[in-house]
Amino acid sequence: MPYFSFHHSEPTRKKTVPADFFTTLVNKMKVLVATEKPFAKVAVDGIREVIEDAGYELALLEKYTDKQQLLEAVADADALIIRSDIVDAEVLDAAKQLKIVVRAGAGYDNIDLDAATAHNVVAMNTPGQNSNAVAELALGLMVYAVRNLYNGTSGTELLGKKLGIHAFGNVGRNVARIAQGFGMQVYAYDAYCPDEAMVAANVTPLHSAEELYKTCDIVSLHIPATAETKNSINHDLVNLMPKGGVLVNTARKEVIDEPGLIQLMQERADLKYMTDIMPAADATFREQFAGRYFATPKKMGAQTAEANINAGIAAAKQIVDFLQNGNTRFQVNK
Ligand code: 3PG
Repeated sequence: MPYFSFHHSEPTRKKTVPADFFTTLVNKMKVLVATEKPFAKVAVDGIREVIEDAGYELALLEKYTDKQQLLEAVADADALIIRSDIVDAEVLDAAKQLKIVVRAGAGYDNIDLDAATAHNVVAMNTPGQNSNAVAELALGLMVYAVRNLYNGTSGTELLGKKLGIHAFGNVGRNVARIAQGFGMQVYAYDAYCPDEAMVAANVTPLHSAEELYKTCDIVSLHIPATAETKNSINHDLVNLMPKGGVLVNTARKEVIDEPGLIQLMQERADLKYMTDIMPAADATFREQFAGRYFATPKKMGAQTAEANINAGIAAAKQIVDFLQNGNTRFQVNK
């Protein structure tokens, strides 16, 4: 049965149209959520609501195994929501209609920003939306490390230990807050953050990475992967840590100089490495450093319903606000 009719022989039929009828006729904007590691269902439902309320269509590509699937799915997308999914020049070439890509999360090293700019595509992230989830996982890795990977032997406590936060952004600040609840002494180094911000959070500012590693029993990494930071966590830096040092990485694998860390852990049997981003040399780490190395099978830091909802819905709202009002507040390829 049609929604309405102009047929004169049916004078009593109500001449109403559904709210989205004309937008349907003029081709709805399509928002694609492409997540190799899917959001929780509740987050997808929330994203759908935001997108459909705006009169757009939502398409989903989850758990794809092949880049070709992404290339096909983006072909008619006007907007794209991703997580750690790679958006490079080839993806942008295939996305002929694309106006905006939003990385639902913090780090946007998976987007080729220059290519996005060249394709006239706005790239955004959703800063802060998943940072508590990542911070909780970082503390979980710390407890796991000092309790000897729950192997039944006597470990140590976090209470009173010195924690070094390497980069005091959204995740680093949440790590500081939670670590203070454990009674840790919290230090931070961040070349781009003023001391006052750290002091206001009861964190002791240090003024070089070397000073941080020398001072702290546990160092938690929160630096982005950039040309400047890649391979910067190297043999000599980590070697400054005191006996029994623990390095926790919930940031990016690229910041670690893996051969350097392997060499150091061979030289120093007291060091532990806990990571949420499996190293390229995972097999070597597992084989050589059993009991003092742990990597999650897949990056889990932001993998909570809450973080998925926060980041996913923020991404959807940013897309609507950009398409309807031109808001570029969170653009990262300016
Ligand atoms: C981020 O940069 O937001 C985190 O690393 C989370 O990444 P994910 O969305 O792939 O879990």
